Amino acid sequence: MKKTLSYLTPYRGTAALAVTVKFIGSIAELVLPLLLDYIIDDIVPAGDMPMVLWLGLAMLAFSAVALVGNIWANKLSVVAAAGMTHDLRYDLFKKISYLKSEQVDMVTVPSLVSRLTSDSYYVNEMVARMLRLGVRAPILLIGGVIMTFIVDAYMALILVACVPFVIIAVVIITKKSIPYYSKKQACSDDMVRTMQENVSGVRIIRALDKGGCERRRFKGVSDRLGKTDFDAKRVMSLTNPLSTLILNLGLVAVIIVGAAMSDGAGSVLAVLTYFTMILNGMLGISKIFVVLSRGVASAGRIEEVLALDERQSVGTYPAGNEDNEVEFSGVSFSYNGVEDNLTDINFAIKKGQTLGIIGATGSGKSTIINLMTRLYDVSSGAVYVRGRDVRSVPPGELRKNFGVAFQNDFLMAASVGENIDYGRNLGGDAINSAVSAAQAEEFVGGLKDGLNYRVAQKAANLSGGQKQRVTVARALAGNPEILILDDASSALDYETDAALRRALATQYPLTTKIIVAQRVSSVKSADKILVLDDGRQIGFGTHTELLENCEEYALIYRAQMGEEV
Ligand SMILES: Nc1ncnc2c1ncn2[C@@H]1O[C@H](COP(=O)(O)OP(=O)(O)OP(=O)(O)O)[C@@H](O)[C@H]1O
Ligand SMILES: [Mg+2]
Repeated sequence: MKKTLSYLTPYRGTAALAVTVKFIGSIAELVLPLLLDYIIDDIVPAGDMPMVLWLGLAMLAFSAVALVGNIWANKLSVVAAAGMTHDLRYDLFKKISYLKSEQVDMVTVPSLVSRLTSDSYYVNEMVARMLRLGVRAPILLIGGVIMTFIVDAYMALILVACVPFVIIAVVIITKKSIPYYSKKQACSDDMVRTMQENVSGVRIIRALDKGGCERRRFKGVSDRLGKTDFDAKRVMSLTNPLSTLILNLGLVAVIIVGAAMSDGAGSVLAVLTYFTMILNGMLGISKIFVVLSRGVASAGRIEEVLALDERQSVGTYPAGNEDNEVEFSGVSFSYNGVEDNLTDINFAIKKGQTLGIIGATGSGKSTIINLMTRLYDVSSGAVYVRGRDVRSVPPGELRKNFGVAFQNDFLMAASVGENIDYGRNLGGDAINSAVSAAQAEEFVGGLKDGLNYRVAQKAANLSGGQKQRVTVARALAGNPEILILDDASSALDYETDAALRRALATQYPLTTKIIVAQRVSSVKSADKILVLDDGRQIGFGTHTELLENCEEYALIYRAQMGEEV
């Protein structure tokens, strides 16, 4: 909570002004009934009309101060709260974008999304409300009691007797409603998740004609959300009538006492007004409890992410063989720390060579890429890039070596050119030669605005193969030392795939190429091929070597050749 509140520091001037203005406005409001009492009980009976007029004007002035003060303070509090939430959200976003892959796995993506959206919203609401109600409610409550004492001590005593009952009622009701609010937050997370899945999976849902099933699923979560919301509100809605009832009973007593021993109608009227103010004060405090408990929980969820240490440690590790561009030495790795996803991987390739990685789905091909680019750290063994253990190279420097097209990589909703450049200001030549090598020249040329053609969200207006070629061009455009294509040509026809490999060999001869594929034809001509099976290395060598000494590779090859023929 402390960390979250520190975001208010730059806006402390505005916040302090909001609190001060609110304070003045609320005090002005408190003075009004007192003036009324004085006019009715003392000035009017004395027949001092000019004084009535003056005091009437004073009342008008106090009303104006109360009105303007409240409006202005509300505005200031919104400005301060919005400013601090903006900064908090920005830092959270920055943190999320630098999180280590295992940290993202741990917190999960939907949870990160809801922390960035609804949790930051609840923090915003908490701060804005606290700056307003946090000042106003106690003033109305305590000030109201004090003022009632000033007006009439007997009536005040009745009021004081009522207050504990009201407080007990408010506290019990608030306590009962808080669990409903937490439940509601969880339900609303569920609804967001269901909706996200539906929007992203809209095609498969239609293709499998699962619309009805999805609608029922959505209706289920939506009904649950509605019900918890209803429960929470049902409980909370008791506060108002119950407190009013208690205070009204007190008021009846006030009127009886007032009739018997008060010094005039003005006092009774003033006390009635103070009763209403005190009631409002109490309701305000109960609201504070709700926003505070919700806001504190959300601030905790945000701080949990902000506290994660996203920096990858850079240590000193023994160097590897400098002649090797990439080397895996006795590498084992597990995502969950329980069973190995890679076991004892050993291979090396030289600069400018092409490495093909092949294996069944789930055999660990993408995991090799994840370790090479240090998205995850090895459990044992070492990964060397250009002779240095990846854990001894600052991450920024390490990643400069790579141009990567990840499996199912994403494109932004921006122009094709912007997607390829990706904010690197590479210049037209680099982009054009990348486009040509990626075999994207023809299709980009055929687009209505060429490189300026706008890619829709999730690249919905590009075919699978077009999308892959843009991601390959993006990987190539920076002219990387090491090019990694993880299943990045799977959607291309055999001919285009072959043309891509030829272009890579001629246009980027010095670039080390790592090509992950399911098709033998994509890796056949590579200098070295790594064959994986269930996280184990079952072959490493050239195509000819593997055909001779790796049974599984020969099997895959024959099966696929048969298919191609
Ligand atoms: N982030 C992750 N958390 C936990 N397990 C993971 C994660 N990513 C992959 N795995 C597991 O690790 C194993 C290897 O996955 P990997 O993605 O490397 O396979 P792959 O060979 O690239 O498969 P494909 O050909 O389908 O892309 C699989 O069993 C997979 O379930
Ligand atoms: Mg993969």
